[in-house]
Amino acid sequence: MAVKAAAHLYLHKLPDTYSAEKQLIKSLPRMARASADPQPSQAFLDHLEETQGQVARIDEVVELLNLKLKRIKCAAMEDLVEEGKDLIDEIEKGPVLDVALIGAAQKVEHDEIASYTTLTTLTTKLRYTAAVPLLQASLAEERATDERLGKLGQAAAIKDAAAAGKARWHRTSSRICGESSYSAGGVAGTRSPDALGGFHDPATSPYWSRGIVHRRRIGHGRLRRIGGGGLD
Ligand SMILES: [Fe+2]
Repeated sequence: MAVKAAAHLYLHKLPDTYSAEKQLIKSLPRMARASADPQPSQAFLDHLEETQGQVARIDEVVELLNLKLKRIKCAAMEDLVEEGKDLIDEIEKGPVLDVALIGAAQKVEHDEIASYTTLTTLTTKLRYTAAVPLLQASLAEERATDERLGKLGQAAAIKDAAAAGKARWHRTSSRICGESSYSAGGVAGTRSPDALGGFHDPATSPYWSRGIVHRRRIGHGRLRRIGGGGLD
């Protein structure tokens, strides 16, 4: 269909967004099940409930404006849903998959924010006044979900980086010190020489468990931490 007027665009954009929401309703439960962390899992389920409400709002818009909704499949959402499925197939359940799923969900939100922004603008321009608050409400939910997911994504990435830091510390210290009896979590091992010739006890050293990766001497015997977390 050649879209030549705002009203034509509206008649394309509304069913496209409707299709996106319907596809997302099928995808979110799968993402919630795949997440190892209860927080993103709950965020997906909460957004599922919101998405059902957003579908109901579009139904309301259609009724208010006495429109007939075309049957359209939103190609962008189809790709995003496929991307989510691929992540679940290819990444082991755990913190890395959680970070990936949160990122995928944010891509969905960004797409929906763009759609509702366009719809709200068109609805206002076309003077479909009664429908404006409905679309604004959905837009506000998409933005809030994006913000919530962003915070969860940062938290999940930090957890994953901390775990990776411990593993890296284990490998690095083993190489530097010639010590072979550490475990990544700092649980096993006896007193172990560090890179400076000192000793860290895995059971008691406060920085052991905080994932310090390297330490080096600066000035007169002062130490500076490079990477990881912890105290010098
Ligand atoms: Fe939505």
